[in-house]
Amino acid sequence: MTTSEQSSQETSSRQAAGSAGIHSTEEKLSALETLQKAAMLGGGTRRIETQHKKGKLTARERIDLLLDPGSLNELDMFVTHRTSDFGLADQKYPGDGVVTGYGKVEGRLVYFFSQDFTVFGGSLSEAHAEKICKVMDLAMKNGAPIIGLNDSGGARIQEGVVSLGAYADIFLRNTLASGVVPQISAVLGPCAGGAVYSPAITDFIFMVEETSYMFVTGPNVVKAVTHEDVSFEDLGGATVHNATSGVAHFAYPSEAHCIRAIRQLLSYLPSNNLDDPPLLTPTEEPERLITELDAIIPDNPSKAYDMKDVIHHIVDEGNFFEVQEAFAQNIIVGFSRMNGRSVGIVAQQPRALAGVLDINASDKAARFVRFCDCFNIPLITLVDVPGFLPGTAQEHNGIIRHGAKLLYAYCEATVPKITIITRKAYGGAYDVMSSKHIRGDINYAWPTAEIAVMGPEAAVNILFKDEIERAEDSDQRRKELITEYNEKFTNPYIAASRGYIDEVISPHDTRKKIISALEMLKNKRDTNPPKKHGNIPL
Ligand code: HXC
Repeated sequence: MTTSEQSSQETSSRQAAGSAGIHSTEEKLSALETLQKAAMLGGGTRRIETQHKKGKLTARERIDLLLDPGSLNELDMFVTHRTSDFGLADQKYPGDGVVTGYGKVEGRLVYFFSQDFTVFGGSLSEAHAEKICKVMDLAMKNGAPIIGLNDSGGARIQEGVVSLGAYADIFLRNTLASGVVPQISAVLGPCAGGAVYSPAITDFIFMVEETSYMFVTGPNVVKAVTHEDVSFEDLGGATVHNATSGVAHFAYPSEAHCIRAIRQLLSYLPSNNLDDPPLLTPTEEPERLITELDAIIPDNPSKAYDMKDVIHHIVDEGNFFEVQEAFAQNIIVGFSRMNGRSVGIVAQQPRALAGVLDINASDKAARFVRFCDCFNIPLITLVDVPGFLPGTAQEHNGIIRHGAKLLYAYCEATVPKITIITRKAYGGAYDVMSSKHIRGDINYAWPTAEIAVMGPEAAVNILFKDEIERAEDSDQRRKELITEYNEKFTNPYIAASRGYIDEVISPHDTRKKIISALEMLKNKRDTNPPKKHGNIPL
């Protein structure tokens, strides 16, 4: 929009608002339409074109993709900022750079805000923040998810500290809403400075490749402080945050893909912490036997297989909505359905780092377990873990603290917990991965399970060090001792004889067994001792 376009938009708005002597009802109705049309244009056609040229949609186009057709109810369309500094008194846009309201996704209520980059770069003023806080408060009171579509240059520079305070109003609400209603953030443009902390407190962050980025300090500041030359994309683009930092959970090639995926994620979630997730009419035989699984574990225990094949085989129609697919690939987390019921799946991936638990895998899984526990989503844990990753890098960066998060998360979780040990369950990692001892409800093992303090080679080298050294043929003696150890320990039957494993099942029965356990546990009630909150090792 040119300057004259802009001022004419403002003039017509003012006229429509009543200052030009409107009297008849018809005139009043038409004035409303004029005001609404002005609001729909955001920062004007020129800025909308610029937005499109960058491969980005407008705030309203995004909302159209997010909500069921015809379900949009917009609030606060005529709110404007109250600043007069820096010539802003004459630059007012109805809505002040954010579209807020409520609507439906697959027939269920959601609240949303969608920042409009065409108005002051979507920057956050006091009024803009008040609009966001209003829908967050409504989401909390009425128990429905809040979805934030973020596209903003950060704090409205002209408002100074008022804008910083307004951010804090949002951070507080994000924190209070955590674990009460699902909070989903899409980052669809810039997200910089302290502004990143609102999405960071929410449950899931969606990003779009090449057009969205998040960082605490941008490339210019980085250059000044550390002399590093780095692009926006390499500093905080979708790939970086999905594969390296673990800040984001999903990345998509376009905004349309991204918003479709938000709708899909919502289909697995309850509206709030007091509701159950939606139960869909089952479309597939619950008792389906999966003969492919009987041959999935290689005879050689150091050979990998793809745990995603196991997941795809056991869940309804093979549908698995993976979370943080590109980060810490040695552990897999995501949502599925079993006999129509939402479940959260946590599984080792033997194909990546042999499925070992390291710092990133522990963080990733701990956060997912806690999300599922907040929102009454049963946990299915598929275990094939050789242990925690050894080494100075892991120790010095706090594998103890990070691994403890996962242990803590499983221990405190009171949702139904079903565990299947497919192969290895060694050492502390056996305890961590939803074992019976930390309130696993039903613990299955396949006959291929190996449950022991450590793998055979390491165990034999420690226990029989002297004997092996003294033997005439040390290698031969080591082999014999390993075979003995394997026969004695690397199976599920000692654990089963203690009741740590409820049943050793044939792999082909896995789906059937999980579904019957879920059915049995559907009214499960378990609690933790009353307290203000625990002190998870962060
Ligand atoms: C007011 C802003 C703005 C801001 C952008 N605009 N950011 N107005 N406050 N923070 C306006 C521009 O003046 C411009 O207005 C329009 O938005 C589009 O901006 P452009 O720069 O033309 O767009 P683009 O080239 O795409 O660059 C986008 C950008 C850049 C990278 C975001 O605008 C930028 O660097 N903005 C400042 C970012 C920033 O430092 N924010 C403060 C971060 S600190 P016209 O009228 O020309 O359309 C922070 C603290 C939060 O946010 C702390 C919370 C605790």
